[in-house]
Amino acid sequence: MSDSARPRRSALYMPASNPRALAKARSLPADVIILDLEDAVAPEAKEDARNAAIAAVAEGGFGNRELAIRINALDTPWGRDDLAAVVHANIDAVLVPKVYRPSDITACNAALADAPSRLQLWAMIETCAVVPHLDALAALAAGTRLSLFVMGVNDLAKEMRAKLTPERTPFLPILTLAVAAARAHGVAVLDGVCNEFRDLDVFEAEARQGLMFGFDGKTLIHPDQIAPCNTMFSPSEEDLAWAHAVIAAFALPENAGKGAIRVDGKMAELLHLEQARQMVAIADSIAAQE
Ligand code: COA
Ligand code: MG
Repeated sequence: MSDSARPRRSALYMPASNPRALAKARSLPADVIILDLEDAVAPEAKEDARNAAIAAVAEGGFGNRELAIRINALDTPWGRDDLAAVVHANIDAVLVPKVYRPSDITACNAALADAPSRLQLWAMIETCAVVPHLDALAALAAGTRLSLFVMGVNDLAKEMRAKLTPERTPFLPILTLAVAAARAHGVAVLDGVCNEFRDLDVFEAEARQGLMFGFDGKTLIHPDQIAPCNTMFSPSEEDLAWAHAVIAAFALPENAGKGAIRVDGKMAELLHLEQARQMVAIADSIAAQE
């Protein structure tokens, strides 16, 4: 599966210090599982959580889900040891928290020099300091393992002293900047978490907002959020019907060499053909994994 066709609709965090959550992870239909060593783990539990995460990965059973470990920041007492421990773990990605500047990612990249080439670096976008550097950060995808951004809206709210309301008004410009920077450099991008895990109406509205903003998917904190999130970020039947119509129309001999044509009474350009192919590729990947 090419990276751009990989579904990342739902990415569930779980504290690596919670054995019940780790055990459950293997049967949950999230596209991505993030074993957290950082904010969800208390300082006294950091070492045990790291060992538990490594043991869970070694035990396997995660199927074709992407598996990531969120380490502690390198300037904490645990970050360097976390990074050393994950170098040879059989995971897809290391998620780096509290990125302040692009050099934070190049430092992690250097520390992963001996890791297998498939190991990706994912960056949390959750500090005020990184906001003016989003483009430079995303541009590192060309020369490092960086491949994905994850919004960290709780930490942004804390740093900005902003209120995290369901509309997320204070954060909208940053969400847009992060998506634009990511897309400019071929980096994938996941929306932040919704803390209201008991109210799925609030969750659904926030997930829809993330979809409208262009995110590939959303990070989650509770298993109940997985199903509505997968539905929200899957191409709908209507979307797919449009995509197949566009692909079929451009394949007609009379449309050969044309840049803009009419499909179902609307204009379709070659850029729409590209979008349609991407949508079908994602839908095929989802169907193959389900
Ligand atoms: N991943 C896997 N399983 C989870 C889970 C998660 N994120 N959150 C809850 N579960 C499991 C629980 O272990 C419980 O399993 P059990 O029935 O086998 O005991 C079941 O789902 C029901 O949990 P529930 O009682 O509804 O939730 P809770 O009150 O125990 O926990 C939270 C609520 C928010 C503390 C918990 O969901 C959690 O820790 N979420 C992740 C937090 C995190 O990783 N944050 C970092 C990124 S922001
Ligand atoms: Mg955070």
